[in-house]
Amino acid sequence: MQTGKCSIAIDGPAGAGKSSVARILAERLGFLHIDTGALYRVLTLQVMREGVKPTEAVDVVRVAKAAKIQIVPGPQGIKVLLDGEDVSDAIREPAVSENVSLVAQHAEVRDYLLVLQRQLAADGGTVMDGRDIGTVVLPDAELKIFLTASAEERARRRMKELRTQGHKVTYKDVLLSIRARDNLDAERLVAPLRAAADAIPIDTTGKDVDAVVEEILGYLSAVGGLEGCSMDS
Ligand code: DC
Repeated sequence: MQTGKCSIAIDGPAGAGKSSVARILAERLGFLHIDTGALYRVLTLQVMREGVKPTEAVDVVRVAKAAKIQIVPGPQGIKVLLDGEDVSDAIREPAVSENVSLVAQHAEVRDYLLVLQRQLAADGGTVMDGRDIGTVVLPDAELKIFLTASAEERARRRMKELRTQGHKVTYKDVLLSIRARDNLDAERLVAPLRAAADAIPIDTTGKDVDAVVEEILGYLSAVGGLEGCSMDS
């Protein structure tokens, strides 16, 4: 049930818990969850399938324009469709993670996905997570949260997730990959990862998802002017 017109922006680095927190928060509020990282990932998957170099902006945009990307909300979280194929698992493969920051660095690619992201959030009642939601995509979001956690904790979470999916990965490799992605995301010229001036920072190190969701719900009720963001769904 969609009860409000408000948008909640959740940003932060890889492994800070954005997607899990955003999904449960959206469920609690009856809002739509939009995981914008999934958009960059699905495009990266298609770039790889087509043998296009992720560093070539013009080719990446051509792939983006030709691909039909759909985000379908469901009880287990969002499903991501690429030309009708469910690629929700494929976009989480380590090879996609390795290349996605390269795809996400191009201004042309970001402009293209910006339009798509704003269309997805146009009706409000949205929890959107990513890197530049509070700063670029939804600068007028009623509530902005910036999640962080130590690189070590983020690597441990990611390693657990990958091992559950059957990947043989070492802690050291995952930590290196997290750090590399942090650098690329934070240092790129266009829409780098940074907290909006009016974002509320939450360090999730040592906290479980439910505790973080409760904290955000607390901020939501504490902030005035959120009449549309009904919580009694
Ligand atoms: O949240 P994630 O790990 O699924 O994101 C994948 C990549 O996409 C991440 O390395 C940076 C990029 N990204 C971005 O640049 N802007 C966003 N709003 C979301 C993700």
